[in-house]
Amino acid sequence: MKDFKNKVAVITGGGSGIGLALAEQAAKLGMHLVLADIDASALENAVSRFEAQGVRVLSRVVDVRNEDQVTAFADAVYAEFGGAHLLFNNAGVGSVGKVWESTATDWDWVMGVNVNGVVNGIRAFVPRMINSGEEGHVINTASIAGLVSGHGMAIYRVSKHAVVILSEVLQHEFALYGHDHLSASVLCPAWTKTQITSSDRIRPDEMQNAPEEIKVGPVEIGHLKKMQSLIDKTGKTAEEVAAATFDAIREKKFYILTHEDFIPAIAIRGKDILAGNNPRDLGI
Ligand SMILES: NC(=O)c1ccc[n+]([C@@H]2O[C@H](COP(=O)([O-])OP(=O)(O)OC[C@H]3O[C@@H](n4cnc5c(N)ncnc54)[C@H](O)[C@@H]3O)[C@@H](O)[C@H]2O)c1
Repeated sequence: MKDFKNKVAVITGGGSGIGLALAEQAAKLGMHLVLADIDASALENAVSRFEAQGVRVLSRVVDVRNEDQVTAFADAVYAEFGGAHLLFNNAGVGSVGKVWESTATDWDWVMGVNVNGVVNGIRAFVPRMINSGEEGHVINTASIAGLVSGHGMAIYRVSKHAVVILSEVLQHEFALYGHDHLSASVLCPAWTKTQITSSDRIRPDEMQNAPEEIKVGPVEIGHLKKMQSLIDKTGKTAEEVAAATFDAIREKKFYILTHEDFIPAIAIRGKDILAGNNPRDLGI
């Protein structure tokens, strides 16, 4: 897509970080905005900011894990705008913790947001985007963690690998079934200055662990601190990531790799698989 003016950008997780920066880019290009987020106050701040700029905005408090809420959200978008052209399935949460110490609730929450949230967005919007016949692009936010091997953040890594293959399948099926007016991309950033390391702030009550279940110890806390320090020292801004994403949309580029320094790690994993080597822990 090259002409964005008066088209509709739907962004989940639009209240903060990368989602908010994508909304800013879209607004600059003259798009109408549709923002969904579980965080009502972040959403309200974002809406006031865009309305003050004269941007047409529709917003809904939505938990992307919940299929009914996402479907009702899509109904509202089509009732208000009659279409959706860019669909950013971006809402996501971080996790720390070992594979075997993460609780069943941790798995439900992180997979629920990071994977089911993307699936719900696709199921609610893509059939309507197909039927409209209008040019459209679906951009799913994964992570560099979805392309490399490493330790820690077990659920997060699993969820992001899932979003990469989910997006690849989506792209193949657009082509296979002749939906040439639609494209897909997967956004795979590395460290970006957002609120991702404090995802617990929006963890719903029913997804809290009982105190005796929580296994986050010094190792995990160290991991979180290291991650935060890498983000602070070397992270890109959400605005840089959003600008690169729109460049990729213009070029119909599928893999959106915003952090060049991390690309060699993808090759290392690929070479290890091809050579029959055991995986190297790249620490990313
Ligand atoms: N920041 C990074 O270093 C980084 C790197 C790679 C990928 N990502 C991915 O980027 C995406 C955006 O995260 P961010 O870094 O901007 O973090 P962020 O915490 O600043 O923003 C995430 C937004 O998603 C919303 N959200 C969380 N759970 C939700 C739910 N159940 N329903 C609806 N909205 C929900 C949050 O309220 C928040 O507004 C995520 O998918 C994340 O995994 C981030």
